[in-house]
Amino acid sequence: MDSIRIRGGQPLTGSIHISGAKNAALPLMAASLLTDGELTLSNLPHLVDVSTMAHLLAELGVDISMNGDAGGGHTGRVFGLKAKDTLDTTAPYDLVRKMRASVLVLGPLLARFGHARVSLPGGCAIGTRPVDFHLKALAQLGADIELSEGYVEASTPKGLTGAHIVFPMVTVGGTENLLMAATLAEGETVLANAAREPEVADLANCLVAMGAEIEGIGSDTLKIQGVQKLHGADYAVVPDRIETGSYAVAAAITGGDLHLTGTRLELIDAVAEILVQAGVEISEMDDGMRVSRANGPLQGADVMTEPYPGFPTDMQAQMMVLMAVADGASMITETIFENRFMHVPELCRMGANINVHGASAIIRGVERLSGAPVMATDLRASISLILAGLAAEGETILNRVYHLDRGYERVEDKLAACGADIERIRE
Ligand code: UD1
Repeated sequence: MDSIRIRGGQPLTGSIHISGAKNAALPLMAASLLTDGELTLSNLPHLVDVSTMAHLLAELGVDISMNGDAGGGHTGRVFGLKAKDTLDTTAPYDLVRKMRASVLVLGPLLARFGHARVSLPGGCAIGTRPVDFHLKALAQLGADIELSEGYVEASTPKGLTGAHIVFPMVTVGGTENLLMAATLAEGETVLANAAREPEVADLANCLVAMGAEIEGIGSDTLKIQGVQKLHGADYAVVPDRIETGSYAVAAAITGGDLHLTGTRLELIDAVAEILVQAGVEISEMDDGMRVSRANGPLQGADVMTEPYPGFPTDMQAQMMVLMAVADGASMITETIFENRFMHVPELCRMGANINVHGASAIIRGVERLSGAPVMATDLRASISLILAGLAAEGETILNRVYHLDRGYERVEDKLAACGADIERIRE
């Protein structure tokens, strides 16, 4: 399995192009199941998760044509997705277990074909992550749902009917599944306590481009009037705010100066607020933003993860690395996922001083981290260890990089182009 070697201590300078958002690309691809028209998606990132979703859709019988640059350029991939009228409606275990987001095919398959059989995704490294809210809400739209042999078997003998759904807790995937299903349900569906993440809004905007009727996009209450049929559309994926935030931390932690292009500051407001508190300079530019730290040490700050527009859980590990070398003590509280501190023991092996108490971590800043062999446990933990390696003295070897390839496009190329001493060791 590949690993990544980093020799830390170089301030990063230059420009990094931000790719399309993984977490928007996956539901957008699933939305192609809602119509027999062609959905053309551009600015898709080159990532293993995007290939996994393409593989799953192809297994179901979706015709996929691939265009755009083949990697290395700035235009991203372009997929044309056409889901004909007869599709297989079973998402098998082998594909779903590779990627939880495969469960996003459930809502659209059920709404368009009246039945779907989707493997339960099971647990994952950052917590149990059930899909009970998705299933309860689909049942409220009139679906019969049974669990059998590890699969969700869903059918709608009389079609889906609009309903008023209140999510007991904000769920991104749940909101997306229900939003897609409701576009073809009969009558009005209201999704209350809906997720407001930019990737949810991106999906809603694409569905509108496909002929759906949706009000309240970007708010916590989505009102959907079901329509008979959706049609094809052309849609460009929103920039990846987590990739943006991760490279902003890379600039800050190395005392560098990076121009992040193809992205928008408003997508990372909550992250930028903490960075500015920590002493990082951020300025908005026409094509993105500039992030730099010229003088003085970083200052510790307290962070609590929350649903959007709060601080994203997907940036928690990266911010912890910054706090690990900031002056003073910081506290990070994780409210979205249990068990999302698995990067802590690895960071401590690099010299960080971090104590975890339940859902909170106390980080006492140290002067310098030192390089070490480390192991990535999940996607966001992987990038946090790379950031730690960039800031550390000496050599860091990151093992198990397959997590990284699921969510960060050409990370070593992007960093190396800005002066980082980083290389992939292929095996
Ligand atoms: C999405 C993102 C992921 C991000 C997360 C939270 C994608 C592909 N992934 O994941 O990167 O970390 O949002 O911002 O977009 N829950 C239940 N029952 C359910 C659904 C969720 O208990 O039926 C719980 C989860 O265990 C978790 C919380 O609700 O504690 C939020 O999960 P959710 O927002 O659904 O996350 P995902 O959509 O899986």
